[in-house]
Amino acid sequence: MLPILIATSVILGAVLAYLLWVRDWDHWAKKGVPSPKPSFPYGNVKPIFDGKKTFGDFFDDIIKEWPEEPVIGFYSFFKPMLLLNDPDIINSVVVTNFPKFVDGAFELSSADSLFLNTSFWLKGHKAWKEAKSRFTPSFTSSKQKSMVPTMIDSVQRHFNYALSQKGTDPAEVFQAIKLMLNDSILRIAFSIEVDLIKEAKDADSQYKQLLDGDLFVDRQDIHLLFCTSHLASWYFKIRKLRLMSEERHNFYVEFINSCVEARKKSLEQRNDILQSIIAVEKEAVSEGKRAFTREEWASNMLTVMVDSTETAALVLKFILFAVAQNTKEQEKLRSELLKAGSSITDFDYDKIATIRRLDMVINESLRLYSPVLALGKICVETTKIGDVVVEKGTKVFIPISSLHMNPKYHEDPTKFNPERFEDMKSIRSCTFMPFGEGPRACLGQRYALLVLKVLLVQILLTYEVSLEDGYEGPLEFNKMSPFIAALKEEPKWKFTMLK
Ligand code: HEM
Repeated sequence: MLPILIATSVILGAVLAYLLWVRDWDHWAKKGVPSPKPSFPYGNVKPIFDGKKTFGDFFDDIIKEWPEEPVIGFYSFFKPMLLLNDPDIINSVVVTNFPKFVDGAFELSSADSLFLNTSFWLKGHKAWKEAKSRFTPSFTSSKQKSMVPTMIDSVQRHFNYALSQKGTDPAEVFQAIKLMLNDSILRIAFSIEVDLIKEAKDADSQYKQLLDGDLFVDRQDIHLLFCTSHLASWYFKIRKLRLMSEERHNFYVEFINSCVEARKKSLEQRNDILQSIIAVEKEAVSEGKRAFTREEWASNMLTVMVDSTETAALVLKFILFAVAQNTKEQEKLRSELLKAGSSITDFDYDKIATIRRLDMVINESLRLYSPVLALGKICVETTKIGDVVVEKGTKVFIPISSLHMNPKYHEDPTKFNPERFEDMKSIRSCTFMPFGEGPRACLGQRYALLVLKVLLVQILLTYEVSLEDGYEGPLEFNKMSPFIAALKEEPKWKFTMLK
């Protein structure tokens, strides 16, 4: 009798669990919103978890099925989520109704407290606004202008070194790029002057964590973390998955706080990002607000350090790939640059700002290869999107790479055509958004564009960039990097010295 009772309870338990799991799978049908058919247990997101599709591919396929629908539902396991497929609706979420979608859909476990406190991940309007107010004064036009001489000095120093070695070896060129990006931000953010060429050769360098290895932990874990942090946060919380190793986490906390403490003790006033954030903190404290904690300092400066090195390096690779495949466009840009100067030392902020073609080539590369494939937001207050009522807690997604490749918004989208960015007014709002849009858009956009321009001027005035095998296809992305575009394999670069 007992075995029968146990078996019956197990079966009933399993049936109940199944019914609970699938009970919301008619959520979108009840609202008249189309959605692909879910299947147990993943709902619709199995290909992302299996590493067969990135978020970009996944959303592309859904949109292909319902190209004219402004919003399309899908299910992540048992949770209904919404894909936004209309620029006006996207605009209403990130601009007009911003307070109702203030939080990003990303979640992290407490193991990643450092990332959790960066403004990208911060939850709650008040906390985000406070973090943003710390940064904004560091990125004014006059501050950007004052950064350019440092960037130019740095690019020159590191490329001169590369050229004194095997200067056309791609490994040497990319090492120069990496060192330049790290050197620039160390000087601009902390006024730290250090010989990174020497440090990179020293196995015991204190800058090892900046210069060696991957920022993130092992690819398999990161894949799961990015999938689950958007789609199923309960999973990584149980597994305690983390983005960055504990060793690297501790390095950033120690390094950043030692800089902060040394600066606070010193009477010296520097014109750098650190000084500008210290000034914001001082003002906040004088108004009776609390000082920033060690972790807050580390988190905020971490964003600056990581995005201005890792993200910028990735984007530069995409731009170089695009101009390597489109040699005529590379020539056009080079001849524009040559009109302004023959070497990077002939350039300054104002000159760089007047070369429209630099912006056009960078924008077109970012359109074809957006590093952030999609953005997710959480609805924090029940609201109407178009004709659909979206309940508090629902995650909504903006398919950046699909918008960029949609022929409705960008004619002949697979073609590399910088001319489409000649008149920015002709680009419909929320159809080109590599840096996001609205109050929560990227804070470092202008820094990123400046440093990319300085590097591009240096590279295109030194080398002709091409691909060894004359590869003509698009860049292929690693499906195990579901959210941030990552190369499937390194293109076979060729850097030929210009005569
Ligand atoms: C080409 C390189 C970069 C790209 C493509 C990029 C892209 C993005 C995107 C898509 C977002 C999310 C926007 C949203 O949620 O609506 C973002 C946020 C952010 N980015 Fe960047 N970024 C880049 C470089 C940088 C740099 C160099 C910095 C810092 C110096 C930076 C700092 C930030 C910060 C602080 C946020 C959070 C903004 C907020 O939540 O208010 N980014 N970025």
